Amino acid sequence: MKILNVVGARPNFMKIAPLHRAFSQHPYIESKILHTGQHYDAKMSDIFFNQLELPKPDFYLGVGGGSHTFQKAHVMLKFEEVLKAENPDVVLVVGDVNATAACSIVAVKMGIKTVHVEAGLRSGDRKMPEEVNRVITDAICDDLFVTEQSGMINLAKEGVADEKVHFVGNVMIDSLAYYREKAQQIGIMDTLKVTPKEYILMTMHRPSNVDNKPSLEKILEIIEDATRYKTVIFPIHPRTSNNIEKFGLKDRLYNIENLSLLEPQGYLQFLCLMDNASLIITDSGGIQEETTYLQVPCMTFRDSTERPVSVDLGTNILMKDLDPVTVHRQMVKILNGEAKKGVIPPLWDGHAAERIAEILYRQYSNINLTAPATTSI
Ligand code: UD1
Repeated sequence: MKILNVVGARPNFMKIAPLHRAFSQHPYIESKILHTGQHYDAKMSDIFFNQLELPKPDFYLGVGGGSHTFQKAHVMLKFEEVLKAENPDVVLVVGDVNATAACSIVAVKMGIKTVHVEAGLRSGDRKMPEEVNRVITDAICDDLFVTEQSGMINLAKEGVADEKVHFVGNVMIDSLAYYREKAQQIGIMDTLKVTPKEYILMTMHRPSNVDNKPSLEKILEIIEDATRYKTVIFPIHPRTSNNIEKFGLKDRLYNIENLSLLEPQGYLQFLCLMDNASLIITDSGGIQEETTYLQVPCMTFRDSTERPVSVDLGTNILMKDLDPVTVHRQMVKILNGEAKKGVIPPLWDGHAAERIAEILYRQYSNINLTAPATTSI
């Protein structure tokens, strides 16, 4: 059985890595990787392939940046050519980036079995490009692999047939569990001269937070405040650094004392920094889950989350507006040791990818051989 795995942007790489490993170890599955090239910098892409031990992609579409319509249209045209030549049994897409929606539309239209890993997540906010990608992808895929209970409920509400939906756990947590120990050896703490629990880690890249000057200014105010308590480590996303420059805020940012401004970090470096942080301030989707697994306090600067389990069971707190006073109060509470304690959600156990491999093999293999022993779910 031939599976073509699609990646496009940074948050996809750590999801595909355990799947590719599980598929490659399966006796009857051939696993290939296609990269759309949405993220193309060495620091946004190549380093992840190296650290996650992914092979060079079998197919690289090289679409690069541009508006979402531009990206998706180019991906669709080029992906169709690959599918015609390659004819895989299954196309697998992960997450909610542009590649996820664009490639699933093409594959489904060509009658190829198409499956979505990390299905059913809903923020309820259609202004987020990712939410639109999620809704489109889940509406058309043949099988949906779900990470948390809310996903099961959302898909049931949308009328998706039960037999298409599989609650398997979280492949991103598979990568985290697999590489956690190795990340501790990576030396980034020594390089940055920081010690465990003595710094705040920050990431910020959502269009709603960084594409307009007033909210970027509030974020700078929050960083200035945080650096009065601890060193702030801030690996900066290209979208954010481009906008800081565009809005004339570079000098203000560069003049903040006790701020360690970094380029985007590798997977292992960032994992080590998350694991040892006293607090993480972010607007990322995935980091809400990673901090829940690592049981590190997390403040998420968003109005809603598509990952409510990270709030209900985990260590995540949603900060619904960027009011520096509210953020200050919450931050001080956490730094004073009053962070909420979380638990690890069901099936976030490092084995989600193996479950998916078994389900796909049972479902779509045309090979008439006795299937190997199955993993229990
Ligand atoms: C994308 C995903 C988002 C994910 C984020 C993680 C969608 C809709 N959004 O958003 O879900 O959380 O990735 O990073 O798919 N750029 C570079 N170098 C790169 C990649 C991008 O300079 O390697 C620049 C682009 O040219 C663009 C900006 O960064 O100006 C934003 O990139 P884009 O891919 O449009 O979306 P992200 O904000 O990264």
